[in-house]
Amino acid sequence: MKILVINGPNLNMLGIREPGIYGKETYDDVCRKITTYVENNYANVEIEIFQSNHEGDIVDKIQSAYGVFDGIVINPAAYTHTSVAILDALKAVSIRAVEVHISDVNEREPFRRVSYAGMACEKSIIGKGTDGYLLAIDWLAGVKR
Ligand code: DQA
Repeated sequence: MKILVINGPNLNMLGIREPGIYGKETYDDVCRKITTYVENNYANVEIEIFQSNHEGDIVDKIQSAYGVFDGIVINPAAYTHTSVAILDALKAVSIRAVEVHISDVNEREPFRRVSYAGMACEKSIIGKGTDGYLLAIDWLAGVKR
């Protein structure tokens, strides 16, 4: 099984960015945590991790996953709340997808309560910190927690 993890804008700034909200782990720490988790728990799962600050690049990446990946874990970051293009791309490829948000977007500003990408996802994992990525992988790989 091949899973693509997609991270949107400013997530490369994890560790520096608003640590009170997003924690102190750096983006590299989070990538390592994901790859180590998969190596230790899933012999049959291959993972690729992608980050971009650009909406069109995220759309391109989703399109390129068609016929290649079996699942997508996506944290579209700020594009969650604005991007119909990312929603449409997820619908276009119809690859199983899980949305992740490190923070609890439902307990923050009202504009963060709308998720376009979430409309194309079978599950949303919200406010579980960076463990949310691992829970999303579990979900896609068949352990439905
Ligand atoms: C986020 C929440 C978004 O509202 C925000 O714009 C982000 C990160 C999260 O992981 O909690 O950049 O997706």
